[in-house]
Amino acid sequence: MPDRKATCCANANIAFIKYWGNRDARLRMPLNDSLSMTLAELMTETTVLFDEALNEDQIVVGETEPAEAARARVVTQLDRIRAEAKLQTKARVMSRNNFPTGAGLASSASAFAALTLAATHAAGLELSERGLSILARQGSGSAARSIPGGFVEWLAATNTTSTSEQSFARVIAAPDFWDLRDVVVVVSHDEKKVGSSDGHQAAMTSPFFSERLNRLPERFHRARRALLARDLNALGTIIEIEAVELHFIAMTSRPPIFYWSPEMVRVIDAARAWRESGLPVYFTLDAGPNVHLICEAKDAETVAGNARQIPGVLEVIPSGVGGPVHLVENHLF
Ligand code: DP6
Repeated sequence: MPDRKATCCANANIAFIKYWGNRDARLRMPLNDSLSMTLAELMTETTVLFDEALNEDQIVVGETEPAEAARARVVTQLDRIRAEAKLQTKARVMSRNNFPTGAGLASSASAFAALTLAATHAAGLELSERGLSILARQGSGSAARSIPGGFVEWLAATNTTSTSEQSFARVIAAPDFWDLRDVVVVVSHDEKKVGSSDGHQAAMTSPFFSERLNRLPERFHRARRALLARDLNALGTIIEIEAVELHFIAMTSRPPIFYWSPEMVRVIDAARAWRESGLPVYFTLDAGPNVHLICEAKDAETVAGNARQIPGVLEVIPSGVGGPVHLVENHLF
């Protein structure tokens, strides 16, 4: 019998061009291409064991069992993998993040990337990077981008004839291509009131959403070109517009979703002021109140030090560019 246990490590990622809105919500096929940087410092480790002795899946995240909805999402992902592996056996899953859980950071990306590699490996499946990305995507869209490492693009595949197999993420540049840093500025530890999955559904109700979709292909290509030219000024200008637009679409959805907060605006204002005085730093945002400050390695310490001085900042986590999801030897149980 093959070894039915595997442990994996996956990094979170921050999107420069955001995934917001699905053309197929069940399969998580997005409406637009997105672009991200893998975050070396934000990591999930997951062990999966398929165990004949179990009557139901046992899932532990951190020290606790997740709430029903979160548990169901993990079970659904395990079911997809069991179906591919033609396996009925229930699984024991243990997962932990090295960053504060509930900090509103992108934990579903690293979580579903780690779960997908650990579970497929434990089930005896040997998937390609592309295959893993397609499968991880169905657990959480942004997890598709946490399978490859470095700088990543996720192709939406929006032709009417496109299939799920055509929407996957791939590397556009290796981690050492550009020593960019994301200085993550945590201003809230609260769990967000509206999850991303509901946000994707709501996006369609914003009267400005179709205009966003019209503009995105050009913006995506400009951002991609700026990244490949290591042009922080050009890339930074685009990612700030993109981040504000994500929140604008959320705020103009019906009913509106406010991830926007006064603490967030304080950090944005500060970053813009530092830039005015010659520090090259640009902000981007997630579907939450925390701010990601993008700069080059040489400026990361200054940016982090400055950020720690801003009233209301709870924590600052500087991160370099991370690598792909991978198997590790040390199991969590
Ligand atoms: C704002 O991947 O968390 O971070 O597919 O429902 O799990 P689900 O959504 P999720 O959405 C991420 C939204 C975002 C932008 C991005 O990462 O591209």
